[in-house]
Amino acid sequence: MIMASKYRLIVIPPPLQGHMTPMLQLATILHSKGFSITVVHTKFNSPDPTNHPDFTFVSFHDGLSDSYTVSSKNFIHISSYLNTNCVTPLKEILVRIIKEEKISCVIYDGLMHFIDSVARELNLPTMLFRTTCATNYLSYHWLPTLQRNGYLPLQDSSCVCMEMVEGLEPLRFKDLPIFNLGESETDIMVKQATESLSVKPSLGVIFNTIEFLESSSLQKLRNLYKVGVFPIGPLHMCMTSSETQEKNNNCSTSLVKEDYSCITWLNEQEPRSVLYVSLGSIASWEEKELIEVAYGLANSEQKFLWVIRPETIKSIPEEVKSAAREKGKIIKWAPQKEVLAHRAVGGFWSHCGWNSTLESVCFGVPMMCQPYFGDQRVNARLVSDVWKVGIECSEMRIRKDEVEGAVRRMMVSEEGKLMRERAVLMKDKIRVGIRDEDALNKLVHTIIMSSSNSST
Ligand code: UDX
Repeated sequence: MIMASKYRLIVIPPPLQGHMTPMLQLATILHSKGFSITVVHTKFNSPDPTNHPDFTFVSFHDGLSDSYTVSSKNFIHISSYLNTNCVTPLKEILVRIIKEEKISCVIYDGLMHFIDSVARELNLPTMLFRTTCATNYLSYHWLPTLQRNGYLPLQDSSCVCMEMVEGLEPLRFKDLPIFNLGESETDIMVKQATESLSVKPSLGVIFNTIEFLESSSLQKLRNLYKVGVFPIGPLHMCMTSSETQEKNNNCSTSLVKEDYSCITWLNEQEPRSVLYVSLGSIASWEEKELIEVAYGLANSEQKFLWVIRPETIKSIPEEVKSAAREKGKIIKWAPQKEVLAHRAVGGFWSHCGWNSTLESVCFGVPMMCQPYFGDQRVNARLVSDVWKVGIECSEMRIRKDEVEGAVRRMMVSEEGKLMRERAVLMKDKIRVGIRDEDALNKLVHTIIMSSSNSST
């Protein structure tokens, strides 16, 4: 038997919750397979080493101030910033590490594509990790051509927005990750997509997905790559295998302290009666929208658990507090997986980030899909149109009557009930899919073989 412990991996997560989480989950799984792990990370939004006592953590300067807040407005720019400013500091760290120890593979997130050329220059084998869904990544291949042919930028008013994109069905133009951006932001996004496609990882590409969810997109991507494609996911489910749990008792990946008081509150609620409301770590509502949401929730007469991140609002409006006193609970940050796994939760009003989407489908919770930017549109289309476990709310305006209607549709209509039933069936099928999947073993084998061959 090959002992993976003598093989060290370097993993490099971007400083964003939605990207940090899957990278640390992947590292945890690979550690359970015996690999040694070094996490190389920015000083900004750094992970908590005490949650991963078996990993080595090394930080590098990124130039971002501690008070910097990532929002929907600056999200597009952070990738360019990291790709421009982190080349030299990261290279210095890698040079120092490889002087001390042999590295079997560098695993990097596609958001920081500059790592590919830095690692190649240092002769280090690489794996690209795509933390969004495979379908989103596939759509990147279409963007340069769509721009050349004059389809971009795409706006709500465009007459093609409801049409299918040939070759990407069932994605419509409005589901593309660059919908409703201005001309200059569309340019930045297409440039980033092109740069991200130009990387050439030497060992393969990892996706946080599974054949059962995205087989057609994965097949198309396999035809586009010369290296192996490894769908290893949903990662949070693979982490709960007994083997992984035993070795990692305390492996929270959250950058913010979770408020567990909501679990006590959920314990007191009826089964499937609570709507969980959260827009992830970047998207947010403005104060006047919060008030409309509060009235909509209150008028729907449904119970709710609502995450409002403190950095997004000066103080919680009185109308919101009053709605919560009647029917709900507001918290700053949830232990989301525990919330979605709770029997009291019957729906998730979500921005459809890929992590939230995977967590929701894995726990059999149907979604109100309200995407805001990027891959969220693609994910929302998969949830509502392909898997049929969510209501499309991308056109919903944040007004109390529309909110009330959508919440009722999700929580108390016949349509919502059928969706909940389908979501439970889907949850079971995902579990079977994970059991039957062999991609993780193939990935482990690929890294070990490459490393053994390079030492002979
Ligand atoms: C970002 C992008 O917006 C998203 O589209 C992309 O797929 C990944 O990067 P984010 O917006 O934060 O991520 O959304 P998401 O992917 O859903 O990740 C959020 C993570 O934070 C999830 O793992 C979720 O469980 C966790 N979370 C969220 C909490 O633990 N508590 C909360 O209160 C809210």
